[in-house]
Amino acid sequence: SNNFLQCFHSKTNISISNSTSNVIFDRNGTSYASVLQSSAQNLRFVTPSTPKPILIIRPLHESHIQAAVVCAKESNINIRIRSGGHDYEGLSYVSNVPFIIVDLSNLRSITVDIENGTAWVESGGTLGELYHTIAEKSKVYAFPAGSCSTIGIGGHLGGGGLGTIFRKYGLAADNVIDAKIVDANGRIFDRKSMGEDLFWAIRGGGGASFGIIFAWKIKLVPVPSIVTVFSIEKTLEKGATELLQKWQLIADKLSQNLFLHAVMDGVDSGGENSNKTIAVSFAALFLGGSEELLTLMDESFPELGVERKDCTEMSWIQSVLYFAGFSTEGSYDVLLNRTNPNKSSFKAKSDFVKEPISEKGLEGLWKILLEEQSGYMIWTPYGGRMSEISENEIPFPHRSGNLYEIQYMVTWEAEGETDAHVDWIRRLHDYMTPFVSKNPRSAYLNYRDLDLGINRNENESYGDASVWGLKYFNSNFKRLAQIKAQVDPSNFFWYEQSIPLFVSQV
Ligand code: FDA
Repeated sequence: SNNFLQCFHSKTNISISNSTSNVIFDRNGTSYASVLQSSAQNLRFVTPSTPKPILIIRPLHESHIQAAVVCAKESNINIRIRSGGHDYEGLSYVSNVPFIIVDLSNLRSITVDIENGTAWVESGGTLGELYHTIAEKSKVYAFPAGSCSTIGIGGHLGGGGLGTIFRKYGLAADNVIDAKIVDANGRIFDRKSMGEDLFWAIRGGGGASFGIIFAWKIKLVPVPSIVTVFSIEKTLEKGATELLQKWQLIADKLSQNLFLHAVMDGVDSGGENSNKTIAVSFAALFLGGSEELLTLMDESFPELGVERKDCTEMSWIQSVLYFAGFSTEGSYDVLLNRTNPNKSSFKAKSDFVKEPISEKGLEGLWKILLEEQSGYMIWTPYGGRMSEISENEIPFPHRSGNLYEIQYMVTWEAEGETDAHVDWIRRLHDYMTPFVSKNPRSAYLNYRDLDLGINRNENESYGDASVWGLKYFNSNFKRLAQIKAQVDPSNFFWYEQSIPLFVSQV
């Protein structure tokens, strides 16, 4: 670390001893542990035996990012880039080789320009901060991104970003119109100077393979002043299986203004011998009033039995609170809280479904789901705008032809329980093989899963990395690897699932 510190000092005039500005944190410092843990979301990677960074750099200015890149390269130290720390496999704050973390949490300014329907957002901002800032300026503008308010802008936009209005407006990454990046040589580029290839790659290709993106210009989208939500829970005894069968046929074909996802887990059946059953919660956001929603539901999914009393009209920002699990009555200032109060250890996986799963298939699925106390699934309907955008528009390829996406999740508290829960989710994933996409069996980058495959070292070949790369990116993987070879030929921005270099044979 001495080489790095000397170099960093020479470029920024900041050293550990004069660092009153809290830019550098080393292992001897009193705040090191709290800064390291501050945004680390998965407690599975916050244990005494987890490898720790040599230093954490929290830039206050883009020139600090430039210095960190140049000095890490000179000192041969790996960099982990962290914005909101929500990476499912902890890749933004854990590495098995000597590393530093560049933690962007101090770079989080958000400038909303309602007149032009755009905003500049720094990567260290959270989705909650972005939604809050937009709502302060206008009740009829929004941004299509994820539901959890503590997610960081940097990782989310770089990996895709989907939420309750993506059937109308696409992914967060589909709505990026400019970006600023520090490349492997410490140079700063914007869209114009980085060129369209690199600009394409960082919108869904996982930005960390290409550089440190510190700011994004995004397109805001219009929403009505009144939206409507409902959530209806049905157990197996109340016809959940039949309802899901119908849901599979219609959820992707509903109006683009209607998002209706299904969340399912095992619950107590409430009977005398307290058997367990599956509960499926159908939760909706409709961009419009309840009258129109009821008509739509009556036409397309009368079996669910949605009634006026189930519907609540609210503003879009209240719907953000609703889907983030906050009270819709209180102030939306809770979105400014950067720490998720419900941290746990977890493991997740994803799948894409192209054909409805049969009743028999669902029944087998319920058996496995009932074996795990804290496992659940979220089924997110595709279609709408997602089917209109071409597979190659940005690196995220999962568009037309997908009915819905599944996220499998299991959480736990005690470190000793890890193996049992991870075994369970792997079994569940195995069971689903016949029912989900094939050749490749697709996965969503932002639900990162190292079981799909990893780069063993920085020399991993394009061919070997294709094992996992095609799952995330399908035919876009090759273009990503060609761009990587151009912009980072020394593979400085290497990590377990970074894009490998594709060098064509002459
Ligand atoms: P983090 O900082 O951990 O970064 C994730 C990855 O991006 C790492 O590889 C990191 O190095 C890289 N990176 C981060 N900042 C970068 C930058 N500035 N430049 C280059 N590379 C950078 N997703 C979704 O689409 N919809 C949803 O509703 C949800 N909900 C959700 C809830 C919860 C509780 C969690 C933990 C996660 C989600 N996600 C999600 C997944 C989320 O979108 C995904 O984990 C994002 O990558 C998180 O971005 P962060 O910046 O927080 O992560």
